[in-house]
Amino acid sequence: MAPSLKPLLLSTLCCLPLISSQALPFDPREATIASTHHSLYTGLATCRQVVSSFLSRIESLNNHTNAILSLNPHALDHADQMDSKLKANNGSFGPLFCIPILLKDNYDTVDLPTTGGNLDLADSRPSVDAPATAALKKAGAIILGKANLHELALEGISVSSLGGQTINPYDYTRTPGGSSGGTGASIAASFAVWGTGTDTVNSLRSPASANSLFSCRPTRGLITRTGIIPISYTQDTIGPIARCVEDVATALTVMSSVGFDAADNATALVPAGNKGTDYTASLTQGSLKGLRLGLIEGFFNRTASSETTPVNEAMANITAKLRGAGATIVPITDRLYNATAIAALDTQRYEYREEMDHYLQRPSLQGQHPDTLNQLYASGKFLVLPSQYEYVTTSLVSSTANQTWETHLSYDTVQYGIRNLTTALQETFVSNSLDALIYPEQKNLVVKIGSPSQSGRNGILAALTGSPVITVPVGFSPATNTAPEGVPIGMEILGRPWTEEQLLQIAYGIQGLGRVRKTPSWAQQVVGVKAYGSVPSVTPDRGNIPAAYPVGVL
Ligand SMILES: *[C@@H]1O[C@H](CO)[C@@H](O)[C@H](O)[C@H]1NC(C)=O
Ligand SMILES: *[C@@H]1O[C@H](CO)[C@@H](O)[C@H](O)[C@H]1NC(C)=O
Ligand SMILES: *[C@@H]1O[C@H](CO)[C@@H](O)[C@H](O)[C@H]1NC(C)=O
Ligand SMILES: *[C@@H]1O[C@H](CO)[C@@H](O)[C@H](O)[C@H]1NC(C)=O
Ligand SMILES: *[C@@H]1O[C@H](CO)[C@@H](O)[C@H](O)[C@H]1NC(C)=O
Ligand SMILES: *[C@@H]1O[C@H](CO)[C@@H](O)[C@H](O)[C@H]1NC(C)=O
Ligand SMILES: *[C@@H]1O[C@H](CO)[C@@H](O)[C@H](O)[C@H]1NC(C)=O
Ligand SMILES: *[C@@H]1O[C@H](CO)[C@@H](O)[C@H](O)[C@H]1NC(C)=O
Repeated sequence: MAPSLKPLLLSTLCCLPLISSQALPFDPREATIASTHHSLYTGLATCRQVVSSFLSRIESLNNHTNAILSLNPHALDHADQMDSKLKANNGSFGPLFCIPILLKDNYDTVDLPTTGGNLDLADSRPSVDAPATAALKKAGAIILGKANLHELALEGISVSSLGGQTINPYDYTRTPGGSSGGTGASIAASFAVWGTGTDTVNSLRSPASANSLFSCRPTRGLITRTGIIPISYTQDTIGPIARCVEDVATALTVMSSVGFDAADNATALVPAGNKGTDYTASLTQGSLKGLRLGLIEGFFNRTASSETTPVNEAMANITAKLRGAGATIVPITDRLYNATAIAALDTQRYEYREEMDHYLQRPSLQGQHPDTLNQLYASGKFLVLPSQYEYVTTSLVSSTANQTWETHLSYDTVQYGIRNLTTALQETFVSNSLDALIYPEQKNLVVKIGSPSQSGRNGILAALTGSPVITVPVGFSPATNTAPEGVPIGMEILGRPWTEEQLLQIAYGIQGLGRVRKTPSWAQQVVGVKAYGSVPSVTPDRGNIPAAYPVGVL
């Protein structure tokens, strides 16, 4: 292939919907920021038509996946304002001009309650937008609504007392990963162009992996966490989930543009050279040739089974392709990389109560809501998986001051262990001259509905060390009766702090090796676009919560 043709071909892979559009003014299926802007700026569609086409899909298809918690009653008004701007043609439009997005329902927005999927927070109403939400609006994004999540973002099953169980769009017997599983399922089904997530241990990466999507967990501190329902000061991050690398780059550029936020001191850590970066600018400038990628052997389960073999095969496929593109795969066999062992350093049980009490007690939080975490869990209006009981009940009595502990390490010991792990990780990079580490997000396929936990995930390494990760789709398990396209499999690409630009270039190179992502079969259908007078409402299906997860039990 002539080198000069390469960028054109690569962008074509992402930016044109794969399904023939049958002369629709705008085809929401697999739409990207670029394809949406193309329709708007060439006059093929109005912003109202774009927004209505996504609302129509949600209204008629959400019952397949139960991913949406609420729709924004102002979405069409905002679309009309965008259409006025288009008509006036006032020069420059924001990078997300009229891009319909979904927020995970732990992002504060004045448009809707922010519930965390929790019944006791059903009427909790922020009176100010989270800074990240405000940045998205300022860039022109239209918030279509809120997506379901694993309740309070505490696990990866994506079941909640307010929103019920979200169903994997590729296999109705499986969970969508999580905790940002409503976002993952929605974006896989083209209910919006892209969506937001949060990640305390795995939560941006697991739903990307389980829904054949791309995500970015940024370096801790790159994006302010103010106004996001918190869990852990040490581990929480927020970021985008999208159907192509270009859209992740645009979304990351906007979300990180907030910069320093005095209310989240981790944002002071961003080095001068990484402030205000446009992550789209250098996307095409990388090359897979000459890269040194460390493959973490300890993050695989080599016991053959229908749940693990497809993951191992997908990783063998992608490493072969990477070698073919000129990258060197360096096996990393250090026993330190054992996700189960590393998880002993998880800080959530120490930090959760303090962080939540602070979130709940802000004067700007209006509406009916508990003032403390303990009040929330005294309400009986919550869903906790049996596998989480110890962690949640412990967080109700523990704190970062906790130095006396019978069954766990003290908080200071955990923080010391994290510093040690972080140094060891940097040593792995330096001693092997690595550009990035790669491994499957999950050692096995995303678990079935009703499972006790989302087992086998490898997110803890980046979560504790604050490392950036881009997740990319790398394959599918064989098709079955319940999964006509197979179950998606994703890979993490972990870098040293503040290397998002390079990681996005690597992900872009991988995207250019050939399209892996598939549309869920039911989501391939064309949905007629309704002429809405007002935004419809959706009712989440709470009747589908598995009996294994009783509401109000601790
Ligand atoms: C969703 O609703 C439509 C229309 O009511 C129906 O045809 C379809 O079978 C439903 N699908 C599921 C998975 O419930
Ligand atoms: C277009 O720009 C002008 C000048 O900045 C402003 O007065 C006007 O309100 C704008 N029109 C729209 C529809 O935004
Ligand atoms: C940073 O903020 C956290 C949480 O708000 C606080 O506990 C910590 O003391 C602050 N650190 C510094 C160095 O100010
Ligand atoms: C590895 O996979 C096998 C087969 O699915 C499973 O039985 C086993 O529990 C897994 N091992 C670990 C450590 O998760
Ligand atoms: C990983 O760590 C767990 C928990 O410490 C341990 O039980 C397991 O044997 C370790 N796995 C390997 C392969 O060393
Ligand atoms: C430490 O944790 C224990 C629970 O194991 C709890 O009873 C105790 O109150 C905690 N102490 C502090 C200072 O948080
Ligand atoms: C620090 O990490 C090294 C591995 O790099 C390990 O051998 C050592 O036990 C760790 N020490 C502590 C206190 O965690
Ligand atoms: C691995 O690649 C082969 C050949 O392209 C393909 O048939 C298979 O489905 C791939 N496996 C997975 C799990 O993606």
